[in-house]
Amino acid sequence: VRDAGIISASQKIEHYEIATYGTLRAFANTLGEMEAVSLLEQTLNEEKEADKMLTEAAYNDINFEAHEEDDM
Ligand SMILES: [Fe+2]
Repeated sequence: VRDAGIISASQKIEHYEIATYGTLRAFANTLGEMEAVSLLEQTLNEEKEADKMLTEAAYNDINFEAHEEDDM
């Protein structure tokens, strides 16, 4: 259960980062700062990939184990 809680907290952070980088990318685009748009998009994609990995970890391992612990 503790691992599931850590994953949940980590995903909250990733989602906050995704929202932030997405907003900053939009601001940069509005300002015509295309180099910044490119860099922010790269970071945004990294954050999305981290979120995806955490989701897979939660589904594949952690929550299943947490459920087993609850049954004991
Ligand atoms: Fe992140």
